[in-house]
Amino acid sequence: MTETPQLGSFVRELTIADVIEETADAKSIVFDIPAGGEDDFRYTPGQFLTLRIPSDQTGSVARCYSLSSSPTEDSQLKVTIKRTVGGYGSNWVCDNAEPGMSMHVLAPSGIFTPKNLDQDFILLAAGSGITPVMSILRSALTQGTGHIVMVYANRDEDSVIFKTELRELQEAHPDRLTVIHWLESVSGLPTAEIIGNLLQPVAAKRHSYICGPTPFMETAKSGLRRSGADMHQIHTEVFSSIDGDPFAEIVIDDSPSEGGEGPAKATVELDGETHEVDWPRSTPLLDVLLAKGIKAPFSCRKGECSACACVLKSGEVEMIHNGILDPEEVEEGYVLSCQLLPKTDHVEVSYSD
Ligand code: FES
Repeated sequence: MTETPQLGSFVRELTIADVIEETADAKSIVFDIPAGGEDDFRYTPGQFLTLRIPSDQTGSVARCYSLSSSPTEDSQLKVTIKRTVGGYGSNWVCDNAEPGMSMHVLAPSGIFTPKNLDQDFILLAAGSGITPVMSILRSALTQGTGHIVMVYANRDEDSVIFKTELRELQEAHPDRLTVIHWLESVSGLPTAEIIGNLLQPVAAKRHSYICGPTPFMETAKSGLRRSGADMHQIHTEVFSSIDGDPFAEIVIDDSPSEGGEGPAKATVELDGETHEVDWPRSTPLLDVLLAKGIKAPFSCRKGECSACACVLKSGEVEMIHNGILDPEEVEEGYVLSCQLLPKTDHVEVSYSD
């Protein structure tokens, strides 16, 4: 028998309201938001939920699934999950999820989310990469006024998730939305040259959001580069598997540093509030905040997902590990709070930028 690990106080429970068969190998899981839980589950389009999935071998594993629901249009949370060959989490959910079942989750998080919905967009998705893109698309169509070009690549017609919904959106917004379906069974894999040519008229001026398997994202990025896009305006969603247990309770190491120094001070801007906290020098900032009950966003707690990313405003820090931020993001000041240690006595960060 496996022992259930102690859950952190930041872990939430959701009940499945519905399971929707989207394609032969993809399902949407719809969760009710519990009464009074609206603040805990507030999210922006493009963010994801982290689900705790039972496992006979380890007690549980954690998996991130993007929300396909729109925060502005839907009162429930919906994640859409496609089975992957040999993927434990996706197959467990597709085999076992049913209405009435409860699941432990972490609050929505992620930085694959537009700062402004009222702009022109390029959206590029492949397979189940449509999930966060759908949330951005529906939110931008209802909240914004811009034009959207979307390229959606799939193996064949039967594997197109949200086919009917996309057609209806196109019919409802003929002047604002262009959806280009790319089927590998008809036209082969898309190349950077093809994507570059398709997007050339609009790429230079727009923000682009890309989600799908890594080879697709690399092809899409180089296609955008060829067509003149600004690299700072290309946003990608990368999921890597979570090895540790982000649901576990936090342990604070508040022993003095090797040099005998006491804690540093952190000023943290989050959700319109400013928090001043003592920061033990060998404990990552995220753990310090969570232990104080401050609802900082996170998912993996391992430096691999970027859900905890914030911007350094002043002071010096070091990251124990950075497995996700690219050089452009680091240059812009982004840091991973789950890996962040202070190097100066006072550090200021913001989650709001
Ligand atoms: Fe995943 Fe920090 S929580 S990188």
